[in-house]
Amino acid sequence: MALNGVTRTRSVQADVNTYDFGALEAPSFCLLDVDLYRPVRSVLEALYDRLPSGAIIVVDDCKDGVAFDGALQAYREVIGLHGLPERIVHGKLGVIEKP
Ligand SMILES: C[S@@+](CC[C@H](N)C(=O)[O-])C[C@H]1O[C@@H](n2cnc3c(N)ncnc32)[C@H](O)[C@@H]1O
Repeated sequence: MALNGVTRTRSVQADVNTYDFGALEAPSFCLLDVDLYRPVRSVLEALYDRLPSGAIIVVDDCKDGVAFDGALQAYREVIGLHGLPERIVHGKLGVIEKP
């Protein structure tokens, strides 16, 4: 990122299942691309309550029959818990917009 002049972004190497998302400023946007059921579910659970109204999370791989299965199941479970509508765009991106 530094080589390409990206200065307002930092990367954190971590296991999302154990990372303390409370240490971050609440995000207004998140692209979640961790492929599998457990990490997708953990991030959605860790972030959802902290999101401001209008915040958007986009979950990649929300499609049946992909090589790494589970993102769609985690997405559906979490939107179900919060009574949110299912919105899959471009065939595989699960969108969550915090009311
Ligand atoms: C499809 S790749 C993401 C690619 C990325 N969006 C990009 O454009 O470079 C999925 C990534 O999720 C990571 N991943 C899976 N489980 C994880 C976890 N528990 N914590 C952190 N990363 C995880 C994998 O290591 C892998 O690099």
